Amino acid sequence: MAIGGVETLDRHYDSFQDDWNVADRSADYGRLVVPHGNAEEPLYRWFHLKEAFSSRLLDRLLDELKLSTNPHLSLADPFAGSGTTLVSGVSACEKAGGEAQVFGVERNPFIWELAQAKLRARIAGSSLSGVVAEELDRLKRAYASTEADLFPIPELSTLRNEQYFSSEHVQALMRVRYSIEAVVDPAVASIFRICLASCVEPASRLRRDGRALRFEVSKEPKDPWKLFLQRMELIRQDLTATKPASGVGEVVLGDARDMAALAGSRTFDLILFSPPYPNNIDYTEIYKVEAWVLGCYGSEVEMKTQRQLTIRSHPSIRFAMDYRYLDTEVRSDVQSLIDPIVAQVPIGDRYHEGRKEVIAGYADDMLKVLADSRKVIREDGRLVFVVGNSLHGSGDAKYVIAADVIMARLAELCGWRVSEIKIARMLKRRFGQSPFLRESLVVLEPV
Ligand SMILES: C[S@@+](CC[C@H](N)C(=O)[O-])C[C@H]1O[C@@H](n2cnc3c(N)ncnc32)[C@H](O)[C@@H]1O
Repeated sequence: MAIGGVETLDRHYDSFQDDWNVADRSADYGRLVVPHGNAEEPLYRWFHLKEAFSSRLLDRLLDELKLSTNPHLSLADPFAGSGTTLVSGVSACEKAGGEAQVFGVERNPFIWELAQAKLRARIAGSSLSGVVAEELDRLKRAYASTEADLFPIPELSTLRNEQYFSSEHVQALMRVRYSIEAVVDPAVASIFRICLASCVEPASRLRRDGRALRFEVSKEPKDPWKLFLQRMELIRQDLTATKPASGVGEVVLGDARDMAALAGSRTFDLILFSPPYPNNIDYTEIYKVEAWVLGCYGSEVEMKTQRQLTIRSHPSIRFAMDYRYLDTEVRSDVQSLIDPIVAQVPIGDRYHEGRKEVIAGYADDMLKVLADSRKVIREDGRLVFVVGNSLHGSGDAKYVIAADVIMARLAELCGWRVSEIKIARMLKRRFGQSPFLRESLVVLEPV
């Protein structure tokens, strides 16, 4: 079915895309931009982040960009997520006989701890095995010496809903969390906390599904302590099998929009990232239960504050309407990029204002990330971002937000050249087709 808003915007996006090299369905990238295969991979299998890259994406890109022979790659991911880019970067340099320098930024406190724990584990590898075994004994003693129903239950209503979580399971999760406080080594404590986080969803009748946590009445919740010990055994095996690497790595709990300041004097050969897509996924929401179990938020207000710190990619909350681009010399270029998209947002929809704000807020945030990245890229370096476009609105009032085109154009406005758009996969939607409903990798070079 052809829909007016979609066609109008297709022409708008085409007017930019005409100048770029667009490779249709490039090779096997469709499987590499999703966590395909990670469930079987040591370290990557510690926690399933649905929005992660495949552990094999980086190798593939390094080959294609002719960077795989650089044994001392300096690599950054300002939206580190579960740390896939950083962990793969250390392995890639080890393969090339050198030492990686990897740097990541992540805004969500739980996801940051996940990236940090995996990266440290990748670098230290089997040298951590002894201390992990000792600390696990300490943790088991602490667990055994506490009583089952002693711990305060977090304020989150999801954890207090007996249909989702039995109170025994919530108590057991909290008992593990408080027992981890007996652990002395902070790096090991983080590994245990990530292991605990990986038990939260299986201990419930909830399933993470795209934008939401769904209730599944027929799901059989697993016993948290038994599962924790099983998953720790997997972690132990992974550490034993991981040869220590001589890379240097850090993940900062911070904001990708401050990338240049956070990187300090570091510069990079490759910046690879996937930002939150403007498709209504709110990471604070979908990983909230793990974050509450780990004690990342002490109250609803703290969680709300966290949400406000994230990229303006969804209308589920109203963000501040501060737009930095209005004070820059590219103001009118940004305006002519976003105005036609804003014009297609259906009037009368209760999300009208929120939807308009996402378009302007997202463009403003991405301009800042791309401009900051430009400051820290080396002369012959590359930036690759992965992003998905999405269909919004309802009925006849539908429109596509082509994040790949929007970001590529913003990149041109802050010192990048678009060397290629690789279409990884086309996204099928029941109504309203557009050639821009796709997930792509965009490759940039500094000019
Ligand atoms: C698509 S995920 C990245 C996944 C990652 N590529 C991986 O392989 O695991 C996007 C990440 O951006 C994070 N994020 C959201 N707002 C942020 C911000 N302002 N600064 C840094 N990270 C942010 C989210 O918490 C989420 O982890």
